[in-house]
Amino acid sequence: MSAKPVVAVTRRLPPLCEARLFAAYDVRMGDDDRGYTPAVLADLAQGANGIIVTPGESIDAAAIAALPSSVKVIASNSVGFEHIDLAAAKARGLRVSNTPDVLTDATADVALLLILAATRRAGAGERMMRAATWGGLRPTFFLGSQITGKRLGIVGMGRIGLAVAKRAQAFGMRVLYHNRKPVADDAGATFVARLDDLLAQSDVLSLHCPLTPETKNLLNARTLALLPEGAVVINTARGPLVNDDALIAALRSGKLFAAGLDVYAGEPAIDPRYRDVENVFLLPHIGSATVETRTAMGMLAIDNLEAVLNGREPPTPIV
Ligand code: DGY
Repeated sequence: MSAKPVVAVTRRLPPLCEARLFAAYDVRMGDDDRGYTPAVLADLAQGANGIIVTPGESIDAAAIAALPSSVKVIASNSVGFEHIDLAAAKARGLRVSNTPDVLTDATADVALLLILAATRRAGAGERMMRAATWGGLRPTFFLGSQITGKRLGIVGMGRIGLAVAKRAQAFGMRVLYHNRKPVADDAGATFVARLDDLLAQSDVLSLHCPLTPETKNLLNARTLALLPEGAVVINTARGPLVNDDALIAALRSGKLFAAGLDVYAGEPAIDPRYRDVENVFLLPHIGSATVETRTAMGMLAIDNLEAVLNGREPPTPIV
């Protein structure tokens, strides 16, 4: 009987994914709380033919250089891949893959959750109920901002941006978007060629672009100032798209009515000032966190890894 291929996995996966892995591979399982320096990752990957990683690990040039030569593929259990140095991977002859499509609906759902929570002040309302300070129904009590008829500006009209657009239209919002180029199937949303022009027309602004050197700090003091007074900012993409100093200042000054965030620069160590800002609704990076979606992501990561180990083209390659 031939030995099973060896697979290193940095974080625990949903049960069906782990069952599949353990049936077909010799699995070297990491753990959810481990910090992965290049040396720790290399140690886990000793003898492995492929590794499954997440955005929580920095797979930079040093980490790639430290990997044993047995590793042929890095399958990321995520759609985002800014945590992997693709040039270094390519130079080493490694294949790299991600998990697009399968998380589109779950992530778009969380964007809508944040839009509704931020505009209807759900976080502050929930805190009030827990603190037992609610004084009862009054006509002027705790008014939010209605989204019906409001303009939603989407930055990045990829799969998730489009899914958010369709959901928002069902809530009666008018959707505008900025993208490198217009999208053929844009659900009737209006393309805006310049980001600054989109910002000026966005009652609610939702970020759905990848994090790149060009998009880092896309929302900063200058760009936030272009939003209408009382706008709402939503981020389910990547934390460093937003400058925390500028966002916190805009929330405190009332320039923004509210924000809803699922992702943060430096997460999980978020800027502690957010905890004291009443008009920000905070979630712990759960955009794709449903049983169904995380299982589908894990399965797709395994499909990619398996394809490479069997000499086939991976279904969703990046490199
Ligand atoms: C991704 O897939 O990139 C998400 O941020 C985590 O699910």
